Amino acid sequence: MTTYNIAIDGPAGAGKSTIAKKAAAKLGFIYVDTGAMYRAMALYCLREGIRREDEQAVEAACPKMAISLKYQDGAQQVLLNGEDVSGLIRTEEVSAMTSAISVYAPVRQKLLELQRELAGEENVIMDGRDIGTCVLPWAQTKIYLTAGSHVRALRRYKEQQEKGLMCNLEEIEQDIIERDYRDMHRDIAPLKQAEDAVYLDSSDMTIDQVVDAIIKEAAKRGLEVRD
Ligand code: DC
Repeated sequence: MTTYNIAIDGPAGAGKSTIAKKAAAKLGFIYVDTGAMYRAMALYCLREGIRREDEQAVEAACPKMAISLKYQDGAQQVLLNGEDVSGLIRTEEVSAMTSAISVYAPVRQKLLELQRELAGEENVIMDGRDIGTCVLPWAQTKIYLTAGSHVRALRRYKEQQEKGLMCNLEEIEQDIIERDYRDMHRDIAPLKQAEDAVYLDSSDMTIDQVVDAIIKEAAKRGLEVRD
């Protein structure tokens, strides 16, 4: 069976996960949040006291981490050595560690295989940084989703506030700018728009407008969409 794959790449806070989740529900696709997989690996490193600059230690830790996904009521849960860590990976500390260790080849190689397997088995909407360029270059539809850094920081700020977490808007924006820089300038699989990706700037779009735009693009590229 040939599966239909939609790849969504873009910088932090562009709304990828919210939008991909919604589009997946509408289309009956599986949503795969690849950032959560990298985050689970970062959590492991933090727990082990591994420094982010210590590439050798991160590489040595790779075989000790089993990352898998589970779906409950359509929501993705990420398991680290069998433990559901979905609720522990959204802190700023984990975000910074994730961006730092995701530059290392063994980390990327480990997740690349798992991500390709998932996309070969099911119709997926997969979001991340390198999905259209490296993980699924054959994806039928590719979207590059972005928004201005201030808009993205404001979204993260509101998310954190809603969770009752203390946060500072300037710090979040600074962190986003630094993370974008690292994600876009690393040697392996940097964040960039695939040549055949559709560019969408969500700064002035609602979630539903972006979801509809993505579904339209997929329909143009052979996906049968029922109303
Ligand atoms: O999408 P996110 O914010 O959860 O991603 C966290 C970090 O993981 C991000 O800074 C870069 C890294 N990442 C990556 O390198 N490749 C991916 N496909 C997904 C995430």
